[in-house]
This record gives sequence, structure tokens and C-alpha cells, in this order.
Amino acid sequence: MTPALHALLHAENPANAPTYRPQQFRLSIADDRRVLEELLRSRPGIRVCDTLLTQLRDLIRSRHPNRKIAPVDLDSLATEHLGSTPAEEYGVWFYYPWSMRLAHLLGESEFLELRTNRNRYKITPEEQAELARKRIGVVGLSVGQSVALTLALERSFGEVRLADFDRLDLSNLNRIRAGVHDLNMAKVYITAREIAEIDPYLSVTCFPDGVSEANCDAFLVENSPLDVLVEECDSLDIKILLRQRARLHRIPVVMETSDRGMIDVERFDQEPERAVFHGLVGDIGPSSLRGLTNEQKIPYILQIIGGDTMSARLRASLIEVEQSISTWPQLASAVAHGGAAAAHVVRRICLGDPVVSGRYYADLDALIPGGRASSSAGVEKEAPAGRPSALQLKDMISAISALSRPKAGGGFALAPDMARRLVSDAVQAPSGGNCQPWKWLNDTGTGQLYLFQDRSRAYTPFDPDCLGGLVGLGAAAENLILSAHAAGLQVISDVFPSKEIPELVARFRFSPNPHALAERSWRDELHSMVGVRRTNRKLCPRRPLKAGDLDALTAAVRSIPDAEVHWLVRDEELDECGRLLGIGDRLLFLTESLNRFLVNEIRWTRQEADDTRDGICLESLELSPADRAGFQLCRDWAALDLVRRIGGGHGLEKASGKALAGASAVGLITMPIRTTAAYYWGGRAVERVWLTAAQRQLALHPMTALTYMLSRRTAGGRSDLDADTEKTLHELSPRYKRLFPMSNGEAEVFLFRLSYAEETTQRSLRRHLDDVLVIV
Ligand SMILES: Cc1cc2nc3c(=O)[nH]c(=O)nc-3n(C[C@H](O)[C@H](O)[C@H](O)COP(=O)(O)O)c2cc1C
Repeated sequence: MTPALHALLHAENPANAPTYRPQQFRLSIADDRRVLEELLRSRPGIRVCDTLLTQLRDLIRSRHPNRKIAPVDLDSLATEHLGSTPAEEYGVWFYYPWSMRLAHLLGESEFLELRTNRNRYKITPEEQAELARKRIGVVGLSVGQSVALTLALERSFGEVRLADFDRLDLSNLNRIRAGVHDLNMAKVYITAREIAEIDPYLSVTCFPDGVSEANCDAFLVENSPLDVLVEECDSLDIKILLRQRARLHRIPVVMETSDRGMIDVERFDQEPERAVFHGLVGDIGPSSLRGLTNEQKIPYILQIIGGDTMSARLRASLIEVEQSISTWPQLASAVAHGGAAAAHVVRRICLGDPVVSGRYYADLDALIPGGRASSSAGVEKEAPAGRPSALQLKDMISAISALSRPKAGGGFALAPDMARRLVSDAVQAPSGGNCQPWKWLNDTGTGQLYLFQDRSRAYTPFDPDCLGGLVGLGAAAENLILSAHAAGLQVISDVFPSKEIPELVARFRFSPNPHALAERSWRDELHSMVGVRRTNRKLCPRRPLKAGDLDALTAAVRSIPDAEVHWLVRDEELDECGRLLGIGDRLLFLTESLNRFLVNEIRWTRQEADDTRDGICLESLELSPADRAGFQLCRDWAALDLVRRIGGGHGLEKASGKALAGASAVGLITMPIRTTAAYYWGGRAVERVWLTAAQRQLALHPMTALTYMLSRRTAGGRSDLDADTEKTLHELSPRYKRLFPMSNGEAEVFLFRLSYAEETTQRSLRRHLDDVLVIV
């Protein structure tokens, strides 16, 4: 590089000056002639574009639409039109300093007449004149640029105010009309210059610092109020602020969202009491929305643009924000389409059409159907395939009639009230996904209470053998026994009394007197914890587990014969466990069968929870607003399928990492062999640990999905998972085994984390007793 070339490359360039208004010269005026001459002399590179005669010919043609005028005649008519005025002195010369071009144009009225000639009569001359008196504000210049340029082309305003603090980046060039030479230029100037090049008679004012609290009113009403505000900015606080002020000044607001052709109209001019954003964000103030990261903005964006109504592609992209992409995507086609749609609405409002406030879609995917899934959302809710059918009462009755009578004891008929009391304590037990896989049958005649597993409730695609369901049933049995002891009854239980009837998990008999086969008491005082115990998914900082706590919990597990617990307490083990569980979560979300299962397991609204009285209420997941918003996006398989195909979804791993970051310990309860009975007995151990934890005010959060997925693989069980998921599990397995070195054939019953989180306020609902208990 020579110093001379270096100097030339970095020399001051007038094109970089923040100008956006061309300089005008009327050559009938002596001063203008002198200044232009000086300019042309001092800048020899100026490109002179004198097309006045072409414009005059065009004007003449347009004034005689019913005549076919020969070219020679056109020339003489043009000369005639000039009269005695020398051609150079006719009209106006505009000098564009940023491109060093000098254009000779017709004077304003002829220019306007000719430039809008082809609008007729989609826009009548009267309407065009009306539009020339309108003032439009445009904030945010991606879609905004497209709106502003479309409005300028159509000449739907006389004055436009443009606001954006942003400068042009190369990554904007997928949708913003500009050239590579414009990089780093303020977006307002790029748009203003383009408008000036289309029509230098339009009045343009730039707000290169964007809109803020300080200049908002100046933007909206200074000199004279805007007729319509087009709001297309990214800052949530400014969106709210602008609407609140626009409402105050009774200015209508139009917004296009470049997704599914969504357009919002808020007629604050006609409805000064109207809630901003159609009431979607309540009365939230701009200050609470200031300075949020893109990820933190997502809940509000979902609130504003509608989590369930956005396109699957946008939803997938939002899941990837601040993971594999920095911000949400916008396409040129959507921006161009949005510019056109908003410009159309703005024109109608300006012309007094009573356009009604509301949200509208001009969704091309929906309007022009094709083979590929439409982008229109609509969250799917389908029952997962492979689910066994529901257990029927007739099957239960025929099962017990086929059963041989117990060899000894019992015969004490449980009165219906007592049966109800015991079972209502039993069903306070936890169950995976709060599926409540139990069905109870109290046979008053024989004095026996039967516990069945309803496999249609316990089924999950990662646990198709319903072993997790048996853990819940074991926990329920534990509660039942505590409850019976509290009522002064001894319990004799037969577990899986018949090989032929696998759904029949246990048969209980009761006795008011001591009985040789009765269940031994183990810390009966834990009965008082049955109604207190809950799943606590709250986050908190990690605190080391107190020695007494760990011992008490270990003793609770070991009080069930053969049950064992493997603890992780060291920081690095807990962190690794968080990473592995995170990958498990990603698999849950990104595997179709698991995703559908998960979506069905969550009760997304209070109403849904109240109606079903099962499943996991969204609130009980204790998610931050951003995580909750992200989670809600994951309801749509079409979106997640895309995330899966692009190899994304790593953000979905974070929640488990966060949970484990606050865990004092992780426990894995095991049994020596993998039989159905082992899971039932393991479930009893689970309940003993959980009640003990509740008594010691320790928060317990089960995290079992990965464990069940892996242990089913190890055991070579039936798989309902896809090949990709199986492959990831295969890769994950050695890392998991390093954390939990199990011997072959061991049953991994229950993985959970413990923490000293504050108490949860959530109480998950249980089905009505009459739906789960039959008394015959
Ligand atoms: C076998 C089993 C597996 C569970 N797995 C999970 C789990 O992976 N993640 C989770 O958040 N909760 C899990 N839970 C907790 C249940 O969702 C919870 O018990 C149920 O929603 C009822 O709520 P409660 O425990 O507060 O009464 C599990 C519970 C059981 C019994």
C-alpha cells in the first residue's frame, strides 16, 4: 500500500456527510445560476441528468390519453409547452450531494401530476391532493423502510417523519433496500435519500436518534400532528410509549409484523380510551420493558404478537434466539409484503375510510395452499400413539372374580367411609406427570381393597412398560398403609397377586388386631406429611446437604428391603448431571412422540388443570417468564421439527442446568432386579424419602425422563423412540454410567434432586375420589 493510496482511501468524502435533502436550483434566479456554476466547477465529477424534454413529452402524452401523438409532434408540442422559457430555466434542478448527481425536473405541480398519473383512478386526483396534505410518522426502518418507500412511491403523504437510531449492517441487507456502499449509514438517511431520489418535493424529516421519552411528542405533534403513525420498531418500551402518546394525541397507529402478514390497526383517533395493543399487554408501562435482552423480550413479544398464532418458522427461530441466531428473522418478501400492506391501510385511513381497529392477517401460506405444512400456527394437541386402552370397571371385576382367595387372615370389611379416607390419603401420592395411574376397588363383601394400574394413564413413549407408573402406585400404597396405621388398622398386602392379571398391582386386607403378616410400622408419624409433601421445582442457590439430612433420607430408602440410593453431592458431579439431564430434556422436546406426550402432560391454563384435575400445571414448573415463554413455544411440533432439522434446540438444555446449579444433592433410588414388583417396592421407598424430606423442609424435584429412557435401552426393552434419539442416548450412556455405576439388571427407579429452595405455593390437583375408587 503506498501512502498516497492510503491517503486517498481514507480521504474525507462528502457522500458520507449526514445529508438527505437535495439542493434546489431554479435557473431563472441569478443567484441559483451562480451557485450551481460554482458547484459544477468545483466538483468536476458531478453527473448531470437532464431529461427535461423526456419528462415534457411524457407529460404531454399523459394529458392526451386519447391521442396517439407521433414523436416529431411530441417534440414540437414540448417546445411549444416551454414557450419563451429556455429549457435550462424551466422547472428545477436538484443536486444530490451523496451521489453527486444533478437532475433536471419539472416544476412541482407538473412533476406531481405526471408522477401520480398512473395512480388514477385507484386514487382519484382529489384523493391524491388530499394525501399530499397528510403527515405520516414511521418508526423503525426495516418494515418501516418498506412502508415509507411504498407510501412515497404512491405519494400517500406530503410529509414523512422517519425515526430509527440504528445504522445499516451487512446483516440487514437481506431485507433493507440499500447498497453495500451504505453500510454503517444511519437507516433514516438511507430511507430519506431514497425518498428524495423518488420525489424531491416530498418533505422528509429525520430523527436519527430514534424516538425516546424526550422527543416522542416532537415526533408525533411538533409543528403539526401526524395523521397516522406507522410503528415498526424493535424496542418494546418505545412501542408502548409511542402508543400511549399517540392515544393521547389521538393519532391512529398501524403496525405490520412481517410474519403471516399480520397487521394491527389501533384507531386511537376514534377510540381515545382504547387499550394499547388491543389490551394484550395489560397496562404495562414502558419503564418495565427498558433494557431487556432479546431473550428477555420474548415473553412480551409472544404476548403482543400471539404465541399460538405466529408461524411455525418464527416460533422455531425464537427458540434459537441467543443460541444459534442473535435475533428473530425477517425476510425481504415479508418486509416488502408488509410495506405494501401497511401502506395500503395507511392510505385508507388518510382518506377517511373507517378502517376498524383490530388484528388482521394477509397470510400468503394460508391463502395460497401448498404441499408443505402451512406456516399458520395452531398448536397441535394429539394423543400420543401407542397408548394402551383405559382400564374398565368390568375388567377389574372379572379380574378379582378370577382371583384365588388369600391363604390367610383379614376378612375385616372396610366400611365405605374408611375406604374413602384411606384412598384419599393414598392418592395424595406423587405420580409421573401427575397421571394418577391408580384405580381402586373396595370389595366390602370380602373385605379387600384392590389396587389396579391404569396403563393408559401411566404410559409414556420413553417408558412404554409403565414402570414409572408402578413407582406412583408404590408411593400410593405407602400412603395407604400410613393412613391405615393412623386409623388403628393393620394392613396385609399381596403384591401382584396374579401373574395373569398384571394390571392388578396389589390387594390389601385390614385388621384392627395385630397380625403376623401385617406390614411393619416404619415411622408412622410421617402420615402427617402425606398432605404436605409436594414436588418443588423452585430454583435456588446450591447449599451443601446437612449430614443429618443425607443420613435420614438414606435410612428412609433402606427401610424398604433391597432398596438402595446412590447420591451425587460433589459440585462437578452435580454439574455433569445437569448437563446430561439437559440433553435428556432436549431429546424430550425434539422427539416427536415425546414432544406430543409432554404437550399433553402439561396443563397450560388454570382452567385446563381444573377441568382435568390431572397433569402438570404450567405454574408448578416454576419457570422464569423467559423460560415459560420458551416452553410455550415448544408446544408446536412443526416448530420443533424445524429446530431438530437445523441441529438446534441447545437452549432447551439450560433449564436442567439451572435446576442442578441449585441442587444440594441428586439421588438415584435403585432396586437389585428389574421386575415390575421392584418398581412398586421402589415406589414405596420413594414415598418414604419424600415424606422424610418434607419433614426436614427439603425440596424434592424428580427428574426421571432420562433415567427411564436410558434404563429401558440398557434392559433392551420395547422402544417407541426414533433412531436419532436412540443414537443420542447411546452416545450419552457412558457419561451417565460414570455418574451412576450400576450393575447389570439393576432397576433404576427414581432420580431426583434435593435443594433448600423455599416452599412452593403450588398444589397439584387430584381426580375426584369417585373417579378412582369403586366400592362394591
Ligand atoms: C415416578 C415419578 C416420576 C416423576 N418424574 C418427574 C420428572 O421427571 N419431572 C418432574 O418435574 N416431576 C416428576 N415427577 C413429579 C410429578 O410430576 C408429581 O408428583 C405430580 O405432578 C404430582 O405433584 P405433587 O408431587 O406436587 O403432588 C415424578 C413423579 C413420579 C412419582
